[in-house]
Amino acid sequence: MNPPLQIAAFHSWPGDMDALFWVHEEGLDDRCVEAYREALQESTSVPLKIFVASGGEQMKSWDHLPSLLQAFSHHRLSRHSVVLTTGGGAMSDAVGFAASIWKRGMRVAHVPTSTLAMVDAAWGGKTAFNHDGKKNQLGTFHAPLFVHIDACWLSTLPERHRRSGLAEVAKHAMLDPILGWNHLKNWPDWSPTDQDVLRTWTDRMKDSAEAKRRIVEEDPFETGRRATLNLGHTIGHAIEAHFSATNAPWLHGEAVALGLRFAIFMASESSPDDFQPLKHWLQRQVPLPSVKWPTANELWPIMKHDKKNSLGEVREVHWKGWGDVVWPEILEKEAFKATWPAFLRSEMESPHL
Ligand SMILES: NC(=O)c1ccc[n+]([C@@H]2O[C@H](COP(=O)([O-])OP(=O)(O)OC[C@H]3O[C@@H](n4cnc5c(N)ncnc54)[C@H](O)[C@@H]3O)[C@@H](O)[C@H]2O)c1
Ligand SMILES: [Zn+2]
Repeated sequence: MNPPLQIAAFHSWPGDMDALFWVHEEGLDDRCVEAYREALQESTSVPLKIFVASGGEQMKSWDHLPSLLQAFSHHRLSRHSVVLTTGGGAMSDAVGFAASIWKRGMRVAHVPTSTLAMVDAAWGGKTAFNHDGKKNQLGTFHAPLFVHIDACWLSTLPERHRRSGLAEVAKHAMLDPILGWNHLKNWPDWSPTDQDVLRTWTDRMKDSAEAKRRIVEEDPFETGRRATLNLGHTIGHAIEAHFSATNAPWLHGEAVALGLRFAIFMASESSPDDFQPLKHWLQRQVPLPSVKWPTANELWPIMKHDKKNSLGEVREVHWKGWGDVVWPEILEKEAFKATWPAFLRSEMESPHL
């Protein structure tokens, strides 16, 4: 394993900071953890307090909140303290929530360690806890001071998680005219020992995160443009929910990848060849579990309950081409029931490369 690349560019802290509380997941690469610990120590004269937690979705369970608040209390964190998380999106959501209510709001920054957290969760500006068996029922808007991206962390991330987060990378490239196909083409195969590959991955994850940041900054409280970030998610959420009840649930990014492939299919009706490289990119980068995909009849009732709907209509983000989306577009039941089987047939005719 090579040393981290981005650490030299570490950020400056607020002048009134009285303590830096670093929460990192267990199971991360030891050399990255040690290099970051040293860099953090050097970056500030205030006390550095370290808390190691096991990450993942269980962090967002309400039962977990007291242990975080207890740690804040034990380390005497104040409103002038800063919490830095180093972990996946569940950690930035959970610790971000705890920080946002501590002393009526303590500042937070993130060093995300999964592909999904790097390009999506860390810059979300939203925090969340699950409640009553449902995801993200409780939360706050709490923007981070900064997000620091370094591909060195990905070396310990399981491959399936690493790949699934790339669906959100494709989504940002599809939405943002600055990124487009250039962002995805010549994407290097992952190799944690190759410095050039690490540098390219870091740069591309940063560019993708920036695309999300631009949209979030324009619409921090989700009243308009931010809804376009749901591209591929009306179908994606339904697929995720469909498989969540089985013994082989899909990861969020895998379900979104299929939702994006459907969006590409819809856009391809007018120009069939234009988006083939994008479709192949998704097929190659985000392989899907080999199980039978749900039918339109199975998906539609789930889609009817999507939180983005209003007046009982199913609303989706319609992708017309690079950087060109329409929101909201009403998806009619009969149209979906005709289009979904055609999409499935087209996928069978052009299977994974
Ligand atoms: N706030 C937002 O705007 C926003 C946006 C998107 C997603 N999210 C949330 O983010 C979460 C998903 O994020 P995720 O995909 O990172 O999942 P995750 O945080 O659950 O991480 C996936 C798994 O990988 C582990 N892990 C993370 N980084 C690792 C590393 N470098 N090495 C080894 N193991 C590592 C975690 O412990 C966990 O077991 C969901 O809870 C979702 O709701 C929030
Ligand atoms: Zn998503």
